[in-house]
Amino acid sequence: MKQIYLDHAATTPVDKKVLNEMMPYFSQNFGNASSLYSLGQEASLAVEKARKQVADFFGAKEREIIFTSGATESNNLAIKGVVRAYYKKKKNKPHIITTTFEHHCVLNTVKKLEKENLIEATFINPKKDGVVDARDIKNAIKSNTILVSAMYVNNEIGTVQPIAEIGKLIKKINEANKLKAKSCQLLFHTDATQAVNYFNCNVEKLGVDLMSMSAHKIYGPKGIGVLYIKKGLNITRIQDGGEQEFGLRAGTLNVPGIVGLGSAIEKVKSLRQRRIRLGRKKSKIDEIKILRNYLIDKILKEIPDSRLNGSKIKRSPNNVNVTFSRVEGESLLMMLSQEGVFASTGSACSSGSLSPSHVLLALGLKPEETHGSLRLTLGKNTTKKEIDYAVKVIKKSVEKLRKVSGNVLEDYYKVMKHEA
Ligand SMILES: Cc1ncc(COP(=O)(O)O)c(C=O)c1O
Repeated sequence: MKQIYLDHAATTPVDKKVLNEMMPYFSQNFGNASSLYSLGQEASLAVEKARKQVADFFGAKEREIIFTSGATESNNLAIKGVVRAYYKKKKNKPHIITTTFEHHCVLNTVKKLEKENLIEATFINPKKDGVVDARDIKNAIKSNTILVSAMYVNNEIGTVQPIAEIGKLIKKINEANKLKAKSCQLLFHTDATQAVNYFNCNVEKLGVDLMSMSAHKIYGPKGIGVLYIKKGLNITRIQDGGEQEFGLRAGTLNVPGIVGLGSAIEKVKSLRQRRIRLGRKKSKIDEIKILRNYLIDKILKEIPDSRLNGSKIKRSPNNVNVTFSRVEGESLLMMLSQEGVFASTGSACSSGSLSPSHVLLALGLKPEETHGSLRLTLGKNTTKKEIDYAVKVIKKSVEKLRKVSGNVLEDYYKVMKHEA
């Protein structure tokens, strides 16, 4: 059976060249990067090479790059680390601003700190198109705000947030505060996990103080990520142990993973290189975007009662998120999987009850409107033939599901609405 992978926002296959570069660091150059003998120093050199590769890509200094186990840890370290550092010097409760449609590792971290009474939090809703208005963030800033955390590209609907614009306004506020001799610096963190493949991640350009990413979204290995921490920023470690990573992240370094991350980030650059393809100068990103638009248009044209979630323009080149009315998303995924099409849905079926996607709810969709959602995310090797096959299978499955359960679902939603 054909296998068509359309879930590149969940994870990507490790690039063969990346894997080759990682291989020697498993059992040949296996030293601990903290060991002083030559085997350890070889590992340490490989780590420092990767640190430079990442720093160059972000337009940062090597000292500003901290290797972690992935974006979940990076986001935890960024937010908790800033709050911990704050409490070393001050006592009054700080305020954090984030958005309602962040990845759960940001959202739950902020909610937990709020529950523990350590912070006040404001959650900004995106507009209907899935894009946050920078003015809403500006209006939420208070005298005790210490951190704004806003994702670069949403993992579910692929919408792109105005990070550089938010960065600029935060810089302005900090400059004004300096003039007023207020010492409190407002920090800006972005979760760039879904952005690294396709968007400019230069930290100066974005105006960010902290930035997170994960290697497995960019054709690198799982279990390795980065937190960029701007030089001079006050942050406290959240994990106790050794003094690795400039004392900010304890634990033996994952050398093969770090080598893979460095190699993968180096290869991301090639997605942006423009070459003559079919008589026109195009980058791989341009090609993915053309295919994505083809997929969106084909679904909306061929499958009745389907709708695109989030802006078509301010959108990651690889993301399609559609809702099919009178369809249950999990059943659709199962049917697609049986036909070899792998995709994902935002809503999760837990203990018999359908829990709607927090991202789609944040866009203002009603719970019953979120259930038939499907996320299809393309990769650098996705072909038009695969897209054609996937649409054929989706169309057939949606028709089948609507016949079997469309009316039942409608009745269920009516009852739910009545009970609410
Ligand atoms: C936007 C975003 N942030 C954070 C994460 C967490 O990454 P990891 O599971 O690699 O820690 C993901 C993963 O899907 C993501 O898409």
